[in-house]
Amino acid sequence: MTKTVLITGASSGIGLEFAKIFAEKGENVILVARNEEKLIKIRKYLMEKYNNFTCFYVKDLSAPNAAKELFDEITADGRKVDYLINNAGFGDNHKYLHTDFETHEKMVKLNVLALMELCYYFGRVMCNRGNGKILNVASVAAFCGGPYMSVYYATKAFVLSISEALAEEFGEFGVKVTCLCPGPTISNFADAADSGKSNMFRYLKPSTSKEVAEAGYKAMMKGKPLHYHGFNVKAMAFLTRFSPRFINTKFAKFMNNTDSANKHNL
Ligand SMILES: NC(=O)c1ccc[n+]([C@@H]2O[C@H](COP(=O)([O-])OP(=O)(O)OC[C@H]3O[C@@H](n4cnc5c(N)ncnc54)[C@H](OP(=O)(O)O)[C@@H]3O)[C@@H](O)[C@H]2O)c1
Repeated sequence: MTKTVLITGASSGIGLEFAKIFAEKGENVILVARNEEKLIKIRKYLMEKYNNFTCFYVKDLSAPNAAKELFDEITADGRKVDYLINNAGFGDNHKYLHTDFETHEKMVKLNVLALMELCYYFGRVMCNRGNGKILNVASVAAFCGGPYMSVYYATKAFVLSISEALAEEFGEFGVKVTCLCPGPTISNFADAADSGKSNMFRYLKPSTSKEVAEAGYKAMMKGKPLHYHGFNVKAMAFLTRFSPRFINTKFAKFMNNTDSANKHNL
């Protein structure tokens, strides 16, 4: 039977690649992002190329109540969500005090609060029904403190932690939760975060969004609680378990260093 996937941040990068994978398999796809023009084009592209059903909801998920509104609208439209992919997110590669507080706040609202809300409302429906799968996109940034991307790293540590906990809780009801931790990936993320010139992107070969989404899809279908994408990410996840936390943080500081990240005074 045809299933339905809801993907946040589906207008570009990893989210768009997830949409293509599900559409190719003939599943119904619900796209969510802010850019309506892009969503219209993607919907047309997917339906013409894969002959599936695709619809979209234009939402700024960092706005108050947006995630709950999204849940209410999807429910009112009679759509049953089998798979939820919490992918929307952004970063910011500058000193904590150099970034305006509104940006920090938006990041927490999108990367943390919207993801929490969607897990709560859709998770409740899935658990009552006794099936469903959720994939939350964290990052290599989830493993330690990240100077010059402090709030971003903290949000991704949150995503990893809550995903591992919900995998256990929801698992009791037959609902699988997967946390995907990609390393540097080619998408709009680096431009939006101003991190394209960081050592992270300079020294680690970035994956494509397609590679990350394909790996995420496989992990999700297998019901794996955690998937680190790529050798470098696996190595970092392993090493950070054994090295002192302050060393991990210093290493992250080096990786996040860009020309602009540390040159600004307050
Ligand atoms: N690229 C990397 O190196 C990397 C590494 C590890 C983890 N990740 C994570 O992977 C996820 C996807 O990022 P990406 O690399 O694919 O970047 P991307 O190309 O910038 O995609 C981000 C997506 O999120 C949407 N989005 C941003 N702000 C939003 C908001 N307020 N409300 C709703 N949607 C919003 C964007 O669409 P609109 O602009 O149309 O809203 C876009 O579709 C993020 O959670 C990111 O933290 C990325």
